[in-house]
Amino acid sequence: MNNSTPDISNLILEAAKKAREELSTLPEPDMTTPVEWPVSCTVGPGLEGAIACETKVGYVNGSKGWLVYRGYDIFDLCANSTYEEVSYLLLHGEMPTAIQLKEYNDKLVEYRFLPHTLRHVMSFPLEEMNPMSALRLGINLMRQRQTDRDMGDHVRISKHKTIGTDEDSIPMEKEPRGHRKAIYEFSDKSLEIAAAKKKKAEKYERRVHNLDACYHLISGTATLAAAIARVREHKLPIEPRTDLGHAANLLYMMTGEVPTPEKERLMDVALILHADHGMNASTFATMVVASTLSDIYFSVGAGVAALNGPLHGGANEEVLKTLREIGDAEKVDKWYKKARKEKRKIMGFGHRVYKAYDPRARVLGPLAKQVVAQSGDPEAKRLLKVAQRLEEVVIEDLGGKKGIFPNVDFYSGLVYSAMGIDSAMFTPLFAVSRVAGWTARTIEYLKNNRIFRPRGIYVGGFDKPYVPIAER
Ligand code: SDX
Repeated sequence: MNNSTPDISNLILEAAKKAREELSTLPEPDMTTPVEWPVSCTVGPGLEGAIACETKVGYVNGSKGWLVYRGYDIFDLCANSTYEEVSYLLLHGEMPTAIQLKEYNDKLVEYRFLPHTLRHVMSFPLEEMNPMSALRLGINLMRQRQTDRDMGDHVRISKHKTIGTDEDSIPMEKEPRGHRKAIYEFSDKSLEIAAAKKKKAEKYERRVHNLDACYHLISGTATLAAAIARVREHKLPIEPRTDLGHAANLLYMMTGEVPTPEKERLMDVALILHADHGMNASTFATMVVASTLSDIYFSVGAGVAALNGPLHGGANEEVLKTLREIGDAEKVDKWYKKARKEKRKIMGFGHRVYKAYDPRARVLGPLAKQVVAQSGDPEAKRLLKVAQRLEEVVIEDLGGKKGIFPNVDFYSGLVYSAMGIDSAMFTPLFAVSRVAGWTARTIEYLKNNRIFRPRGIYVGGFDKPYVPIAER
């Protein structure tokens, strides 16, 4: 058990126990076997039910409310593991040894530093942009930096140790002192890293489908998201630290403060929970792009675009808006009746696969309760009460009837908000985590690649005669 915060681990283990008790009566699902292609399956609109590929990355069982990453149960991973271990597991298929984890972590730390990318991304009006659009822009710029495809076969490196403010420097706070402007100097560290990269780039063909690019994206997306959060607050990005774990460094780069063990653990659990989830829309989008042999940066950019939608990743931000719209727990019943009459989808509820309680909501619910109580914030407490009443009302009305329960987005916003994170950053944080699942499934699919090309049944007319525009 991850002993850094036993109370959080115990909450997770209790949630696991509750899930097992509630669902023990349901029949065990058939274990899956390799697919004999071509396979027949019943397909609904939006490819519902379609089998697109075989995978060992992850498994979601909708009736049992199971979520499994490479054979490990999500509750066990949240109670015991870290995002570093879990993202390695998703990519490589096995839990890392201590040496493998150190090597992987060293890579992630190296890839935290994106001075050139941040310099370019900061030339855009990030504070006015949709943060997911800014994230996608940054990922494109990361691609520019990393691939030899656009740079010719060598990596240009500035010869200067320090640079004047009007050239290559980017204003960054070395230490978050809140100064209006600090000059970022390409310290020896980044030059050494860049020089080492040049050697490696010459030795390895840095193709964009290799694991190195995945590591770059898993680490760099966190740096990008943090920098976007800072600029949106009209502050300067904060230089990553090399002595903090992935979750802690993400929070540090967003806030300028080293998080408490509790906050670090909450972020780490949230990152683990969001890391992978079957063939969801954004994962499918990344795979479709990769199947054309475009590259992993374009693929992840497509995933970011798909995740932006409020029916998918954008729901947690919408949930907070709903809770604020309702205002008080006593108003939930009246609000819900009106919403149902207007046939409104209740954000944070329902799922294409889960017809039982989303196991991720089973973890995030109790965590939200704990972090809101610890925050002492009256507004957060009020919103939590609204959420808890809304959960009761929706489950009572739609749970048994339509299998509609809270999904991952219902409580995640309350957790992030109680941690002081702006709601505009909720979906970017989802992407920061899901980049592990996107890259893992893309790398896996490319091993037996086949370009995605489903059919659309044509129901239009035929043999229409062309009529010149003058006669129309
Ligand atoms: C994520 O795929 C994934 O794995 C996604 C995800 C991941 O980790 O990647 O889990 C992350 O996207 C979570 C979902 C976040 N989105 C929301 O919370 C938005 C609200 N939810 C709904 O829009 C909806 O539940 C979906 C989009 C999530 C799933 O919708 P489906 O499977 O297409 O279901 P549907 O729209 O066909 O609805 C079936 C019925 C309908 O009623 P009838 O027309 O049959 O009478 O259920 C009703 C719907 O009206 N329904 C809801 C509802 N969700 C479905 N009614 C009220 N509120 C809802 N939220």
